[in-house]
Amino acid sequence: MNINPEIREKIVLALDVDTTEEAKKLIMELKDYVGVFKIGLQFYTANGTEVFDFMKEIGAEFFFDVKLMDIPNTVKKASANIIRSGASFYNLHALGGAEMMRQSAQGANDAAKETGKKPPVILAVTVLTSISDEVLHDEFKISYSAMEYVTTLAKLAKDSGMTGVVASAFEARKIKEVCGKDFKVLCPGIRPQWSVKGDQKRLATPSFAIKEGADYLVIGRAVTAAEDRIGAMKKIYEEIEEALKQDKE
Ligand code: C5P
Repeated sequence: MNINPEIREKIVLALDVDTTEEAKKLIMELKDYVGVFKIGLQFYTANGTEVFDFMKEIGAEFFFDVKLMDIPNTVKKASANIIRSGASFYNLHALGGAEMMRQSAQGANDAAKETGKKPPVILAVTVLTSISDEVLHDEFKISYSAMEYVTTLAKLAKDSGMTGVVASAFEARKIKEVCGKDFKVLCPGIRPQWSVKGDQKRLATPSFAIKEGADYLVIGRAVTAAEDRIGAMKKIYEEIEEALKQDKE
C-alpha cells in the first residue's frame, strides 16, 4: 500500500502499554503509518524516558501527553525540558490561565530554537471529558455548559499562543468556527465502526472526525488491540482517504 503522507501526519498512535519493550515493538511495527506517537502519564510514570531516546534515535515524532498545570515560571521551564527531551507535541491545561500558556509557549519555542528544531505543537486541554455539566455547575460553580466552556477556553488558548486544543470530534466544528480553521484540533475517542468500543463512551468514527474538521486523530486500541494491526491501520487509512475525498468535492 502507498502510504498517503497527508493521512500519516494525522495519525497519533497512543502507546498505552505497560513496558518500554512493548512500546518499542509497536513503534517499529507501525512507524511507517504513524505521524506521531503519544506517550501518556501512565506509561511515563512507570517507564520514564528511555522510549523518548529510542524515538529520537529512529527519528519518530512523539507527543508527550503530560497535561501541565502549575505557576507560569514552573510550566515555562518544564515546557523547555519537554522539548529538549525530544517531544515535538505536548499539552497543558487551559485552566492554568493565559499567562501560564504564554510562558509555556515561550519556554518551548526558545528551547526548539536552541536545539535547531521546528516550532512545537502545543495543545491545550479545555474541559476533561470526565467533567460533566453537573460537575462544572455543582463543584466548580461555573454556569456555562461544558460545550460553551470548551469554546471559551479554546479561544483563550488561541489568544495565548497555543497551536490548538485536544477535543472530542463532536466539538471540533464549533471550535473551528470560533478559533479559525488553522487552529488545530486533536481528537481522541476515535473508533471505526468495525472496532470494539472498550470503556470509551462518546465515540466518533475516523470519517466523522475528519468531516468535522479534526486535524489529528488519536488512535489507540482500535489498532493496538486488533489481531491484525497493520490490517486495521490500512482500513483506517482507507476510511480517512474516502472522507478527505468527499470533503474536497
Ligand atoms: O485506546 P483508545 O483509542 O481509547 O485510546 C485513547 C487515548 O486517548 C488514551 O491514551 C487516552 O488517554 C486518550 N484520551 C481519551 N479521551 C479523552 C482524552 C484523552 O481517550 N477525552
